[in-house]
Amino acid sequence: MRKSPQARLLQHYRAHARDLPWRLAPGSNEAPDPYRVWLSEVMLQQTTVATVTPRFAAFLARWPTVEDMAAAPVENILSQWAGLGYYARARNLHACAVEVAARGGFPDTEAQLRQLPGIGDYTAAAVAAIAFGRDAVVVDTNVERVVARCFAIRRPIKDARPEIRQRAAFFYERQPAGEMAQALMDLGATICRPKAPDCAVCPLGPDCAAYATGDPASIPPKPPRKTRPERHGTAYVIEQDDHLFLTRRPDKGVLGGMAALPGSDWADGSAPPSNAPTIRHVFTHFALTLRIESRAQPPSGTEGWWHERSAIADAGLPTLYTKALAAFDAEAESAEQRLPLLP
Ligand code: ADE
Repeated sequence: MRKSPQARLLQHYRAHARDLPWRLAPGSNEAPDPYRVWLSEVMLQQTTVATVTPRFAAFLARWPTVEDMAAAPVENILSQWAGLGYYARARNLHACAVEVAARGGFPDTEAQLRQLPGIGDYTAAAVAAIAFGRDAVVVDTNVERVVARCFAIRRPIKDARPEIRQRAAFFYERQPAGEMAQALMDLGATICRPKAPDCAVCPLGPDCAAYATGDPASIPPKPPRKTRPERHGTAYVIEQDDHLFLTRRPDKGVLGGMAALPGSDWADGSAPPSNAPTIRHVFTHFALTLRIESRAQPPSGTEGWWHERSAIADAGLPTLYTKALAAFDAEAESAEQRLPLLP
């Protein structure tokens, strides 16, 4: 008898599962650690497996349990998160750890998990299924693409979500949800890729309506490119005795609570022309052009601290400011090379 698509997918997963540090090998007898599952799923919400892998290890080394994380100051979580973006995740991570430690462990149902800070529909379903073996329909962007292709759903994903979810439930029916979720995610990441899907090796090939059309990559249709409003501002590099003056962004708003270079507010509109080193950084809702200027003193009334220049990698600066410093240093170096040599 021909195997069901679900059976073929799970069989493929058991043979080819990616070896990921938060994942137990398929068929392992060990009990999953909900803390690792939760931490990895929050980190993976907007960030790739390749980026998350080393960063997950660093978090786990620093805070081996949820109680350890709960006991740490939130600033330490934010600086450990530096470079991963979407910093509300780091604040919520800490708030969630505090709640979980206070209640004596993670709840084990999707509904209760969803009550915790930073845990939305996807993460609640993923943790319930992977950490606690609960039935849940876990749908992330990889799963959406796999399902849209299998059923040849040609509408843009954002319009087709209810149908995709309904169709996704087909894969999970009477199946181990944790394994199925990871099987679908691995398939989406390694075979059913956004561009150039590798249908020749796909265990769902015989069932896939998009494959049957001969042009599976055209499903789902690409969303129209977003145009983002422009903003601009200035950041200050203030150095004294091999130390750099840093400040903290306000808790609310973009990069809330993160370490930062002091600077102006960011104004709407395109940046005026400038010879100063400049970087451009794209946030979710706008693109920022940031000019970097050298100053002798911190602006009066600016709270902050002096950070050793040679240890700047430990300052917890988000990517915007590491880029800004790199541009400033590159400009300083090339200016040095332009100076005439003294006799
Ligand atoms: N992406 C998000 N969660 C994942 C997981 N558990 N395994 C693989 N990829 C993922």
